[in-house]
Amino acid sequence: MSGNTFGTLFRITTWGESHGPAVGVIVDGCPAGLLLDESDIQKELNRRRPGQSDITTPRKEEDKAELLSGLFLGKTTGAPISILVRNNDVDSSKYEALCDTPRPGHADMTYRLKYGSRDWRGGGRSSARETIGRVAAGAIAKKILGMNGIEVLAHVVELGGIRSKNVDVEQIRENTEKNPVRCADPDAALQMEAMIHAARGEGDSVGGIVEIIGIGIPAGVGEPVFDKLSAELAKGLMSIGAVKGIEIGLGFKSSIIRGSRMNDPIGMRDGKPAPLTNNAGGILGGISNGEPIVCRIAVKPTPSISKEQHTVDLSEMKDTRIKITGRHDPSIPPRIVPVAEAMVALVLVDMMMRGGFIRTSTIGQL
Ligand SMILES: Cc1cc2nc3c(=O)[nH]c(=O)nc-3n(C[C@H](O)[C@H](O)[C@H](O)COP(=O)(O)O)c2cc1C
Repeated sequence: MSGNTFGTLFRITTWGESHGPAVGVIVDGCPAGLLLDESDIQKELNRRRPGQSDITTPRKEEDKAELLSGLFLGKTTGAPISILVRNNDVDSSKYEALCDTPRPGHADMTYRLKYGSRDWRGGGRSSARETIGRVAAGAIAKKILGMNGIEVLAHVVELGGIRSKNVDVEQIRENTEKNPVRCADPDAALQMEAMIHAARGEGDSVGGIVEIIGIGIPAGVGEPVFDKLSAELAKGLMSIGAVKGIEIGLGFKSSIIRGSRMNDPIGMRDGKPAPLTNNAGGILGGISNGEPIVCRIAVKPTPSISKEQHTVDLSEMKDTRIKITGRHDPSIPPRIVPVAEAMVALVLVDMMMRGGFIRTSTIGQL
């Protein structure tokens, strides 16, 4: 199985299966001299952790990060950083029944078609536990970005058709982590939560839209032609399970408006030429223009639902029906927020290293 590595200069490789002994990540290309300890990683893993509220999977995992390499005297050395998180609350019993009956909407059937057999315990490699490695590596990327005055924030803007009102960056910072849905509009958050409970009550699930904003990114990040910043963000975000679409700036809406409405006028701001609006979402020609980078991802409803569904029994090659039990998220958007932030942070650090904005050898003075 290839394709477990992401990035060019700041490169991560995730490994591990949902019900194996552990999952983790190797971060290759982190500059030397970065002050780092387990609490930096843990802070982000705690936001991703299952069982945080009654609208996430009840799987109880502490998700404790163990930093195994790449550090000396509390600082990175430039060598590969290896982070391990043990799987403790493993219960494969509910998955035995799914061994030969692929779940509609999940990766079971395509893994089976491609590899012949698959690790069916908890979804194996296609499980959301894989995203632990991304979030752990993303915590390092966020720390590097923070030192460069850059912040990455995500929040749920739509869930099950319920929309957040327009919010500003201050409201996102202030409100998002205060409710289990991770929506910066508290009224919409309550309705979204009720929607998740209602869907779960019917043995069903709901999807939504998550917005990710990068603030403080200098102009000039992104490598034309194939490695546009927009293309790298799309790859990073679309590589997260359950993400079915991405838009940047006005995105899909830009196809139905006129150029005169879409174009961001350019004017003088603080003595410098700058766009006066941000319909472009901070990227033009694949290169950042100094404005906030704004992406939105469409997240599908959780495939594992307890409602009866049609599938096949591959051991007997006949049609059958399944009801999925086991522990699942009734809605993925609230849990994807830290994962999406991590992917955007990883793309930004990698692209900023490629563009010479961040040094590759050492964070400190030579
Ligand atoms: C944070 C997160 C949590 C998820 N939780 C679940 C879950 O509890 N149950 C489930 O069936 N799928 C869950 N998924 C989605 C599956 O991993 C995903 O749908 C599956 O791998 C198939 O990939 P695709 O939807 O991108 O085609 C989750 C995904 C993410 C990113």
